[in-house]
Amino acid sequence: MLEIKNVTISYEERPTVRNFSMTLHKGEIASLVGESGSGKTTVIRAVLGLLPGGGRVTEGDILFEGKSLLKNTGEEWRTLRGTDISMIFQDSGAMLNPIRKIGNVFVEYIRTHEKISKKDAWKKGMEMMERMRLPDGDNIMNSYPFQLSGGMRQRVGIAMAMTFQPKLLLADEPTSALDVTTQAQIVRQMMELRDEYGTSIIMVTHNLGVAAYMSDQIVVMKEGQIVDRGGRDQILRGGSSVYTQELLDAVPSLGGVRYV
Ligand SMILES: Nc1ncnc2c1ncn2[C@@H]1O[C@H](COP(=O)(O)OP(=O)(O)O)[C@@H](O)[C@H]1O
Ligand SMILES: [Mg+2]
Repeated sequence: MLEIKNVTISYEERPTVRNFSMTLHKGEIASLVGESGSGKTTVIRAVLGLLPGGGRVTEGDILFEGKSLLKNTGEEWRTLRGTDISMIFQDSGAMLNPIRKIGNVFVEYIRTHEKISKKDAWKKGMEMMERMRLPDGDNIMNSYPFQLSGGMRQRVGIAMAMTFQPKLLLADEPTSALDVTTQAQIVRQMMELRDEYGTSIIMVTHNLGVAAYMSDQIVVMKEGQIVDRGGRDQILRGGSSVYTQELLDAVPSLGGVRYV
């Protein structure tokens, strides 16, 4: 469903990510792993057509369901983003407006993509909260972001991102700011979404433990290039690169268990 073909991404004509290729099938979870600055965010922003000013794909192609995303018009992006392809960020609190109630932001988001009344949009938002097993949806909808914990905000972010049952969910370090227990809950919830809706997911993380726990496919990046890739077991055995082994050694172990 997604094919990234030999892509080079440059900022101000300086190539930052080089020769990046990956294929993602329906219902598959892939992780992009690598240290800070390795180009992970750049790759998924390119997929969503949201590179910051000065950034662009200078070589290669990105196909979504067989169609090049690079040729999309602004109008086509507005239709696609938030519906077929959606994204969650490290801190959904930052995405939510700090001075507006969550429910109002949620309703507005729904109504930019679907012509329904405010009342129905509110109901739909509530339903999504319930699906994310957020207790007391009405209370959350009436809250400001700062009144929720980081984990709750992240679940609200996922609830919003899943509203239109996207085919592709891009997640940029969605658990990095959370404590380990909450991190594990969110990761499991994302895996359930894949099982329930057949959503394909690209998970960006610097934590190889998280990647190994949830992914079918792992791509290891360093300095803008792919240095290793493979299935979970393959990578957990140390992959084929020294760098992968270094990342593995850096995964904190929890009570002897090396995963999330
Ligand atoms: N807006 C930007 N303008 C110029 N360079 C950028 C910009 N954003 C990121 N970069 C550069 O691209 C490289 C990769 O960044 P990024 O994709 O954010 O890495 P990661 O997500 O793996 O931490 C970094 O060296 C960074 O300096
Ligand atoms: Mg990043």
